Amino acid sequence: MKKILVIGAGSAIAEATARMFAQRGDALFLVGRKAEVLESMCADLRVRGAQTVGRHVMDANAFDGHAAMLNEAERALGGLDIVLVAHGTLGDQKACEGSVELTLRELNTNGISVVALLTLLAARFEQRGAGTIVVISSVAGDRGRQSNYVYGSAKALVTAFTSGLRQRLYPLGICVITVKPGFVDTPMTAAFPKGALWAKPQQIAAGIVSAVDRGSATVVYLPWFWRWIMLIIRSIPESIFRRLQL
Ligand SMILES: NC(=O)c1ccc[n+]([C@@H]2O[C@H](COP(=O)([O-])OP(=O)(O)OC[C@H]3O[C@@H](n4cnc5c(N)ncnc54)[C@H](OP(=O)(O)O)[C@@H]3O)[C@@H](O)[C@H]2O)c1
Repeated sequence: MKKILVIGAGSAIAEATARMFAQRGDALFLVGRKAEVLESMCADLRVRGAQTVGRHVMDANAFDGHAAMLNEAERALGGLDIVLVAHGTLGDQKACEGSVELTLRELNTNGISVVALLTLLAARFEQRGAGTIVVISSVAGDRGRQSNYVYGSAKALVTAFTSGLRQRLYPLGICVITVKPGFVDTPMTAAFPKGALWAKPQQIAAGIVSAVDRGSATVVYLPWFWRWIMLIIRSIPESIFRRLQL
């Protein structure tokens, strides 16, 4: 039985992942912005087999609430084995271009709040000398594109930060996993037309759980083919890339 904290628990990907953990009888602690969503998830996860399910309402951008949330999660679960950091917003890129305030809010939600949480989590896991930290970044962080570079640059921060954290914590037996999903059919992307490259949240959840089970501190593209798509996209010379409408 693992003790698992899920931050951004209301996310479709996080919920699908939490359900898989619940079915294995793990103990969960859910963190999100909406009390009623967390409440109904708790009931659902108990029915699915979770050993215990706790919850805590928190906006990830309220940085001064992070430490208290972690204290409560540790108290409720009796420690922490696995943490999944999943919250995020796909802001309106065009609106960000006309607003510093909006741009900074998106960077806070998708980047800085994750860095703040990971800084506290790393110190706690370091003391414990074991555990797994899973962070959902995105393929969008691999190369800035005009259609979503505010979101993408926040994810690039998360990718680089988790890369360094992975190196720091690896010798201590702590596994940091950076998850980079491609297009996933969730409320975040509800307005987008869907096609062959799109995955369901359950597929991403299965990939996350299997990465946790493998215990390999690494970067995981989900589904797997995004590793090769992004390899190609990253290798396009800037002289060509700057002309593309991506
Ligand atoms: N969907 C994709 O195509 C895709 C691709 C690559 C990466 N990702 C990443 O996957 C993760 C999960 O996203 P998803 O696709 O599952 O989207 P989702 O279902 O829309 O979930 C996003 C979640 O983040 C929460 N959230 C947003 N801002 C928050 C804040 N300030 N504090 C606390 N929680 C906050 C939302 O809570 P509320 O319900 O309260 O708004 C919601 O539960 C995100 O990190 C996202 O960037 C998604």
